[in-house]
Amino acid sequence: MMISGTTSGPELLVELDRAAPEPLHRQLANGLRDAIRTGRLAPATRLPSTRVLAADLGVSRRLVVEAYSQLTAEGFLLSRHGSGTRVATVDTASAPERDAGEAMRHFDIDFAPGSPDLGSFPRHAWLRALRQGLAEIESHAFGYVAPQGLLTARVAVADYLRRTRGVLADPQHIVLCSGATQAIALLASLLPTQAVAMEDPGFWLHRMVLQHNGIEPIPVPVDDDGLDVAALADSGATTVLATPAHQSPTGVVLSAARRTALVQWARAGHVVIEDDYDAEYRYDRAPVGALQGIAPDRVVYVGSVSKTLAPGLRIGWMVLPANLVGPVALSKGLADTGSSVMDQIAFAKLLTTGRYDRHLRQMRRRYLLRRNALLRALARYLPEATVLGAAAGVHLTVRFPDGFPIGELVDRAARMRVRVEPLAPCYAESGSAPPGLMLGYANLTESQIVTGVCALARAAG
Ligand SMILES: Cc1ncc(COP(=O)(O)O)c(C=O)c1O
Repeated sequence: MMISGTTSGPELLVELDRAAPEPLHRQLANGLRDAIRTGRLAPATRLPSTRVLAADLGVSRRLVVEAYSQLTAEGFLLSRHGSGTRVATVDTASAPERDAGEAMRHFDIDFAPGSPDLGSFPRHAWLRALRQGLAEIESHAFGYVAPQGLLTARVAVADYLRRTRGVLADPQHIVLCSGATQAIALLASLLPTQAVAMEDPGFWLHRMVLQHNGIEPIPVPVDDDGLDVAALADSGATTVLATPAHQSPTGVVLSAARRTALVQWARAGHVVIEDDYDAEYRYDRAPVGALQGIAPDRVVYVGSVSKTLAPGLRIGWMVLPANLVGPVALSKGLADTGSSVMDQIAFAKLLTTGRYDRHLRQMRRRYLLRRNALLRALARYLPEATVLGAAAGVHLTVRFPDGFPIGELVDRAARMRVRVEPLAPCYAESGSAPPGLMLGYANLTESQIVTGVCALARAAG
């Protein structure tokens, strides 16, 4: 048997078995046909010339010409004078399955919470920032740097958090990571498995991340004032994961009295993991600073660019109490030896040049209009729904009267190509969830929002 990679044209493995009874030209034709059918050779790919492929495979040129002619006659290849031989567009027998991301794109209107306006990603500003940052950075940054992240990036993040969130951020206490999700995962690997509490309802993904790390989080109820701190104190938990600035999913803000109580609880030897996931967006309510600024020794502050730039960047950070810096940095190092320095370089520059702030100001104005469009459309077309948590963030929740068949609404909306997420997965006991939806509005135009709510009203009716 001979296996060859080609030296010119696409990288391609072709197996020819000289001991097999099947003629070599047929083996070659079969191999190429399979590669085209399974998508290994994509449409329009230029194949090596017959001379080059013959030399690579150690066969006569006539044999390759014969195989190419056969496949051209079958419609798998296109042969044009001057442009060589290319792969034709054919139905692939086992095209790779669409991944979840692609499947999502098949909704015309997607109210799934959690996405900023992806079309507004500041491509030019990012490229400029990367170019400038690359021109200035010393070469050693391209090596294995400290898993905590580049110091320039940590200094830029510290300055930003101090300015905008009142976080007491010493760059030495910052670990840059791959989004809030990795922050939770790294922390989870260090936490006692029996004593971690989480808001109920809370972000379903974070519950799964904890569970994946062997932690079954203790559910602590949330009411109109946010996390029930008295219930937390009774729960026996030593650590709590919370979203004080904009509770996920309900959107309520932790009240002043509860904030004080939570800080007292933390100071009594406990730890709060503060997930500040969308605090940059606040429309008609007073700003609330981060809890971390009040109790930096007891609070782990977690944030990311997933709501400000794009979730696909996977840039996040933790600001840690001194005693956790070493263990978390070690976990980060063991997980992936640190996040991409390219992204850190660009992000740091975006921050220090003020372009990040500018982008946020622009997005805030746009999201306010979108949120208002959603509120108006809900009031007009779905008056039976009660709106919660609209004063901040990039999503709000709607509740329907008890007994409302929310699952049917979600299914009917999906058939109209409108995607909405029910609240149920956010509850520790999904069966106990009230009928409701989370509606993300940042990645939809105002007219899509109105069309989508009209569809929801039809699905509900
Ligand atoms: C509650 C909450 N925290 C954090 C995040 C961000 O996670 P990441 O930074 O890993 O994208 C989200 C995103 O939807 C969220 O809903």
